[in-house]
Amino acid sequence: MDNKVTSFKVLKTPLENVKDNALLIGFFEGQTGLNADLKKLDKEFNGIISSYIKENRFRAEKGEAKSIFTNKGIKNVVLVGLGEEEKYNFEILSSVMADAAKKLRNGETETFSICLSSFSGHSKEEDAVEKIVLSCLMGLYKFTEYKTKDKDKIKNVKEITLITNSNKNFSSEINYAYAVSYAVNKTRDFVNTPPNIATPGHIAEYVKDVSKKSNLKCTIFDDKQIEKMKMGCFFAVGKGSVNKPRLIVLEYFGAGKSQKPIALVGKGVTFDSGGLNLKPYPYILNMKDDKGGAIASIHVIEACAKLKLPVNLVVITPFCENMIDADSYRPDDVLTAYNGMTVEIKNTDAEGRLVLADALTYACEMKPQAIIDIATLTGASMITLGNVATPYLATDEKLSEKIKSASIKSLEKVWEMPLWPEFEDSIKSDVADIKNISEEGDAGVIIGATFLKNFVDETPWAHIDIGTTVWSKADKGILTKGATGATVRLLMEMLREWK
Ligand code: BES
Ligand code: ZN
Ligand code: ZN
Repeated sequence: MDNKVTSFKVLKTPLENVKDNALLIGFFEGQTGLNADLKKLDKEFNGIISSYIKENRFRAEKGEAKSIFTNKGIKNVVLVGLGEEEKYNFEILSSVMADAAKKLRNGETETFSICLSSFSGHSKEEDAVEKIVLSCLMGLYKFTEYKTKDKDKIKNVKEITLITNSNKNFSSEINYAYAVSYAVNKTRDFVNTPPNIATPGHIAEYVKDVSKKSNLKCTIFDDKQIEKMKMGCFFAVGKGSVNKPRLIVLEYFGAGKSQKPIALVGKGVTFDSGGLNLKPYPYILNMKDDKGGAIASIHVIEACAKLKLPVNLVVITPFCENMIDADSYRPDDVLTAYNGMTVEIKNTDAEGRLVLADALTYACEMKPQAIIDIATLTGASMITLGNVATPYLATDEKLSEKIKSASIKSLEKVWEMPLWPEFEDSIKSDVADIKNISEEGDAGVIIGATFLKNFVDETPWAHIDIGTTVWSKADKGILTKGATGATVRLLMEMLREWK
């Protein structure tokens, strides 16, 4: 993936002067008249646009796209339906725009233009620009790394031109959208990368390289150091694999030394077989996506550095593989966590919380102002909110508000679940301080978080469970089949506004 392949340009020119392979124009349902700019274009095309609307050949239903092929400066005028004007928002803009870009790409259109004012609705053009650039770059993503045949048939859009009446060059909005979509797409790349390649060691080498290029402080602990540091839970999970664990810590200093860092902790299980509690088919499929939280956090810190956001940030990512071996950890084992607590293992498939437990304690030692962990922690997240939204839990109202507000702006839907003390009883162990699952099996997302809470001190903390939203089965709008890059846009929005 290299989303630099699609570049964006801003051009101030009347629509009738545009010369391109295609021009996208957005319309609302029931919109009968054309504005002055469109009237001129329509005249240039002998009234064909107005006739499509008048004759109801184009109704502007949400997602509808009608191509009018011409032999003028614009070869293909695409009328894009935005649905009802009162319901129009950035979510619709993003989805319609991404679908239109995909359709043009699939039709081998290498460049096209967008009539900006027709898509911005009642919002500021600059805000719409950000969403347009993001949705095109996310929608056009394709993972082709492991294809060897017909590579030349894989086409991408080379240039998109934003046609505007304003004198603005929108450079800061385009820059932000570029950095964020690069982070989303790189996250997708790595989460899509098969587990025989994306091992903890391989990822550590990649991260070293990223840190050098982005001027991030990078510390990597190997399996021996992890054992010596007494990270007993994290170490136990990785023990059954020949691909040894790594703890990767990245630091970015964008604010003064006096400002405490924000800590992101990401679950980095490069493959989750379930361990001795082996996952049965088909649940074992796709468990390469169990590193989604860690991979997202790494690309978020890289993007923050690129954009020079005025925050201090630390990213803690424990990477390991949950496998079966004579040396694997087992049910009934009692592990001693990095914070000294003992944990009875009831299920080796609840490994994410063990890996995170030690990473969260490590995060607390860095005395951050807040800790946010991102993890593909439970399959139960599917039952909770389906694939529509990501559940999260927080110990601090202000932190929760930050996540909520970033969710609205970034269009990444999240929903808060409660961390009530009633849930604590179900992870009490007969032999150790706590056990790693509740044997009743209900309230999976909350139980996961309730377990993790034992490893965080009074620092404000939030846990985001991307068990479901890390992956998409659909190829629709900004989503493509495969890894989604979940939480990258959300965290970037939150960090951009951090106070
Ligand atoms: N990595 C899984 C969670 C998961 C499942 C992510 C499906 C994405 C898709 C996690 O380690 C796990 O196996 N969780 C168990 C917990 C259970 C044993 C308490 C689960 O959700 O079934
Ligand atoms: Zn598991
Ligand atoms: Zn897992």
